[in-house]
Amino acid sequence: MAAKPFLTDIETIRQRAREHIDQGAVTAGYGADRATVVKVLNEALATEIVCVLRYKYHYYMASGIHARSVAAEFLEHANEEQQHADRIAERITQLEGAPNLNPEGLLTRSHADYVEGDDLVDMIKEDLVAERIAIDSYRDIVRYLGNDDPTSRRMMEEILAMEEEHAEDLSTLLEALGKKGEPAKPAVGRQASRH
Ligand SMILES: [Fe+2]
Ligand SMILES: [Fe+2]
Repeated sequence: MAAKPFLTDIETIRQRAREHIDQGAVTAGYGADRATVVKVLNEALATEIVCVLRYKYHYYMASGIHARSVAAEFLEHANEEQQHADRIAERITQLEGAPNLNPEGLLTRSHADYVEGDDLVDMIKEDLVAERIAIDSYRDIVRYLGNDDPTSRRMMEEILAMEEEHAEDLSTLLEALGKKGEPAKPAVGRQASRH
């Protein structure tokens, strides 16, 4: 028996690629429902942007209450969420979609919320909640993409891994601030106070 050709013969692939040259990276072999993938990615994009805004707000507010190390963490997360937003937007354009950057409806499209928080501990808790929501919804997106769009799936898996790191960072911060349910340890339990 002759060796089974890998997926389809290379000539057919070349021919298809030429036929749909105007479709850029989307080839006839693309297995996913493109419109749905673009919609789902736009929701992830909105989630990232809301997270950038929330972390930035927390960064500026924490700077004001002299919690420099926590503020630095907020800023780092804000910058990483921005990188996620850029990667997702880039992928949407590869799929012939348009990244939805319209501020109107941003919060509705986003899976995570924008909560300002009253103090440092509150801010960290709200960020942790948002990260956990993102983790759950990105895991669903990864599952949905499956083998139909491995490029988008890989991207979302990488972003998911970073959200898990963010959640871990925040959890560590909460522990350090002694506000995770246990009584505060005197040495490290000093909470930044407002002046
Ligand atoms: Fe993110
Ligand atoms: Fe995150």
